[in-house]
Amino acid sequence: MTSPLLKLTQINKSFGPIDVLNDISLEVKAGEVLCLLGDNGAGKSTLIKILSGVHKPTSGSMEINGNAIAFDSPRDASDNGIATVHQFGGTFPLMSIGRSFFVGAEPTKRWGPFTIYDRSRANEIAVREMRELGITRIDDGDRLVGGLSGGERQALAIARAVHFGAKLLILDEPTAALGVKEAAHVLRIVLQARQKGIAVVFITHNVIHALTVGDHFAVLIHGSKAADFRKGEKSREEITDLMAGGEQMAELEAEIESYMVASTGHSEPARQAL
Ligand SMILES: Nc1ncnc2c1ncn2[C@@H]1O[C@H](COP(=O)(O)OP(=O)(O)OP(=O)(O)O)[C@@H](O)[C@H]1O
Ligand SMILES: [Mg+2]
Repeated sequence: MTSPLLKLTQINKSFGPIDVLNDISLEVKAGEVLCLLGDNGAGKSTLIKILSGVHKPTSGSMEINGNAIAFDSPRDASDNGIATVHQFGGTFPLMSIGRSFFVGAEPTKRWGPFTIYDRSRANEIAVREMRELGITRIDDGDRLVGGLSGGERQALAIARAVHFGAKLLILDEPTAALGVKEAAHVLRIVLQARQKGIAVVFITHNVIHALTVGDHFAVLIHGSKAADFRKGEKSREEITDLMAGGEQMAELEAEIESYMVASTGHSEPARQAL
């Protein structure tokens, strides 16, 4: 048994009177993907904001490689090897690929008496690291991030994390806004990061995406951990039901169908729920 890279013990988080997380205990191992599942508002983003130093837990403890840690800032978390790609934004559309790759850690060169940003080196490294992850359509690091597709932006953020030696990569719904092909690409990149021995926390609503990459799964319901299991221990249907808060999705679908029949006279073609 390998010991966990990251261990959370009984993490609670309240915002004033609102309790958002209750007694969350979790372990993430190096070279494994932990999928964090749960419906809207379950507390997934709040949990990863605690892991990435954005919020402090109200109580509970965190350990990295067996050592107790507490983060004062996102910078503190990233200095401890935690790289987070947040759910909304995170990249600056008007920044070049090279700039955005190195933001806060720009390579420099001497120019006479001055030290200046080494643009060609930054661009070259950024483009190369993206290529490593299979993004081969980009050959110019001067291109603006705003012109990249959603999948390419995710790849840029992941490539950056890998380059700077992240031990734990946290992705908050990286595939949510992507088409089928782009999502598959991001999933492949997640598996590449895992293969390099990086621990990944992958948040998604999509059970198929989760089952494709996950080694370990945790389901949050109303801020509590409702289930914690490993690959192969639950079926897709069981996971979907859990995510819906324990309601039987099959029953819900039957209800919707009878509603459709009653209101339109015909049923919808089989819905693509996932
Ligand atoms: N700063 C805050 N102050 C008060 N309540 C908050 C704050 N941040 C989050 N919450 C509440 O905590 C709950 C969990 O939010 P969170 O964003 O963690 O959910 P989530 O699981 O990521 O949902 P989604 O799947 O929609 O992204 C929500 O009810 C939200 O309104
Ligand atoms: Mg969220």
